[in-house]
Amino acid sequence: MERGEFRGSGKRRRKCCLILCVAVILIIIIAVVLSLTLRQETSDFKTIFLDRCKKFKENNCENIWEVFQKIYVNRDPCQVPMEAYDPLITAAPFKPSCNKTMFWSKTKDVVHSFTEKRDCFLTMEDTLLGSVLDGLTWCGKEGSNETLTTGCPGWTECENNTVRSFWNRASAEFADTACGNVTVMLNGSIMTPFDSRSIFGSIEVKRFNSKRVRNLNVLLVMQKNAVVNCTTDSLQELQKVLDKGIKYNCKEVPESLIEECSSHPEKPCESCW
Ligand SMILES: *[C@@H]1O[C@H](CO)[C@@H](O)[C@H](O)[C@H]1NC(C)=O
Ligand SMILES: *[C@@H]1O[C@H](CO)[C@@H](O)[C@H](O)[C@H]1NC(C)=O
Ligand SMILES: *[C@@H]1O[C@H](CO)[C@@H](O)[C@H](O)[C@H]1NC(C)=O
Ligand SMILES: *[C@@H]1O[C@H](CO)[C@@H](O)[C@H](O)[C@H]1NC(C)=O
Ligand SMILES: *[C@@H]1O[C@H](CO)[C@@H](O)[C@H](O)[C@H]1NC(C)=O
Ligand SMILES: *[C@@H]1O[C@H](CO)[C@@H](O)[C@H](O)[C@H]1NC(C)=O
Repeated sequence: MERGEFRGSGKRRRKCCLILCVAVILIIIIAVVLSLTLRQETSDFKTIFLDRCKKFKENNCENIWEVFQKIYVNRDPCQVPMEAYDPLITAAPFKPSCNKTMFWSKTKDVVHSFTEKRDCFLTMEDTLLGSVLDGLTWCGKEGSNETLTTGCPGWTECENNTVRSFWNRASAEFADTACGNVTVMLNGSIMTPFDSRSIFGSIEVKRFNSKRVRNLNVLLVMQKNAVVNCTTDSLQELQKVLDKGIKYNCKEVPESLIEECSSHPEKPCESCW
């Protein structure tokens, strides 16, 4: 009886041991794969970051990367306020570009296909930081020093998320460096070309002051399906929030004119529209 029980429990123990061993091995495999994946995410992201940075003939890219990743690694991705990016702005400052600064809202593709081909204007995405991080997603998590590129909180999921805070902080800075004539490309195919919740409406426009900015020139892009023109209420709202000393100007520009100017580099910028 006792031996039987002993053997029985021995078998049970061996079975338990086997299950335990398999479980432990599985956990180890999962952990290794996960940590390799995370390390891979970090290194892929870092490669993109450095490659894009080096296109600016910037020889400080490794340092900018170090400053950048310290901001969000080992941190709750919903607890990164815009001020956290101050050291990054210091490490890679925006240069003032008088009379050439171009803002945009809901016209991203059109504006960039233009600025890629012509250097009449400079957008946020043509600056070092803007270009390096354009289209990317990144965040950290508590207890890890890795950069994640998947599973990060979405734009509206929490107010102070890693990506949104960067764009808010960088846009505020970009707007601060604007001077002289400032241009914004808005979308004539929607009812609210000026949206007070957009980055342009909620951050950038508020940073313009008449000491530096002389004119705000709105280019309202008109497509075949345009629904508004320069007289629309939405643009009246823009004039209301604009610092009073800044001269406001609006021009309806057919999309075809912008395309034409893109493909004629010999055409002077002033005579594009
Ligand atoms: C987001 O950060 C700001 C500081 O920039 C802070 O005042 C605010 O309370 C934060 N919001 C949330 C929801 O944590
Ligand atoms: C910007 O344009 C104004 C005239 O609108 C001119 O006086 C100024 O010199 C220009 N600034 C630069 C940096 O080109
Ligand atoms: C304007 O917005 C509409 C709707 O989102 C979009 O389809 C269109 O491409 C935008 N126009 C421009 C010039 O970006
Ligand atoms: C994270 O920490 C580990 C161990 O401390 C180190 O080997 C690795 O290089 C660090 N990774 C990054 C991206 O800093
Ligand atoms: C600045 O904008 C005004 C109004 O649109 C225009 O008349 C002037 O030529 C512009 N100056 C420069 C330097 O772009
Ligand atoms: C602009 O739009 C308003 C309202 O839709 C219309 O009454 C007006 O004729 C338009 N102006 C021009 C120049 O197209």
